[in-house]
Amino acid sequence: MINGLFDKPRLWLAPLAGYTDQAYRQICKEWGAEILVSEMVSADGLIRDSAKTAQYITFLDTERPFGIQIFGSEPYVMAKAAEFLIPYKPDFIDINMGCPVKKVVRRGAGSALMQTPEKAAVIVKEVQNALAGSIPFSVKFRSGWDNSSLNFLYFGLMMQDSGADFVTLHPRTSRQMFGGLSNWEHIKALKARLNIPVVGNGDLHSPEDAERMLNETRCDGLMIGRGALGKPWIFRQCREFLTSGSYTPITKNHLLETVVKHLELALQYQREAVVVKEMRSQLCFYTKGQLGGAEIRNKINHAESAEELRQILRHML
Ligand SMILES: Cc1cc2nc3c(=O)[nH]c(=O)nc-3n(C[C@H](O)[C@H](O)[C@H](O)COP(=O)(O)O)c2cc1C
Repeated sequence: MINGLFDKPRLWLAPLAGYTDQAYRQICKEWGAEILVSEMVSADGLIRDSAKTAQYITFLDTERPFGIQIFGSEPYVMAKAAEFLIPYKPDFIDINMGCPVKKVVRRGAGSALMQTPEKAAVIVKEVQNALAGSIPFSVKFRSGWDNSSLNFLYFGLMMQDSGADFVTLHPRTSRQMFGGLSNWEHIKALKARLNIPVVGNGDLHSPEDAERMLNETRCDGLMIGRGALGKPWIFRQCREFLTSGSYTPITKNHLLETVVKHLELALQYQREAVVVKEMRSQLCFYTKGQLGGAEIRNKINHAESAEELRQILRHML
């Protein structure tokens, strides 16, 4: 069932809370992202107040292959959430065991589960039972809690033995948050140890990085997060580079078309006031490296309507 995800090392858009909503996912898809994942969704929220969380799990058929990521700490709740998702027919469900954010960790979810591998294994078994083979599922985790507890090999084996169909590794510790560099040696070691596919993630910022991760780790998929913010074309460039050894540079026209399209798409999904506020950081990413970028970002941050944003973007480019 996971064949379509791993027929070759695919380019995955990482789940990024606050960024990888439907509008941005579609932009990335158009620019060559081959597998998409939702932002993380609270398992608790799904089963208690599904109306409120619906916006996070809705996707278009054109987004396939598409995965929904859930987080939580209680095996029963996670299993219920997985069961709840079956009728939505995502191509896979991912369990977040890597999030280092306090609000999540405090509840025993995300990367806190790396400190309690037995509990993590129970979650995976319960989710497997709940899904009963209807949808493949995976676990996304880190190298460990901190440098003195790098348990990704043990943890990965446990996830595999408990029933996960594949895993994704972001090789930083939870304590590291996003600091320093990710250690791709960990991806290589995990790939060598597991029988299930391993998706590599962490610090892919260019097509050259993508090729290097593939060569160095032999991983089964490449997941790009921050490297795609303001640069959704990275996916197409990576595929071109992996196929032919070169890639097409992006023109200012591409940038303008993409950023305006992104804004218009976002307006299809959310009220204007919400878009104007929530798109600020996304739009700012597109202006990085542009002449007068700081001034443009200042204007974007003070804009009060979509029309004002359109004018700023047109003027910038
Ligand atoms: C703003 C932001 C939000 C994130 N949200 C999620 C999330 O919802 N679920 C998840 O598993 N990881 C999340 N991550 C982690 C990324 O998926 C990824 O593992 C990490 O950023 C490393 O990859 P990168 O170097 O390509 O960005 C988030 C990271 C950032 C920066």
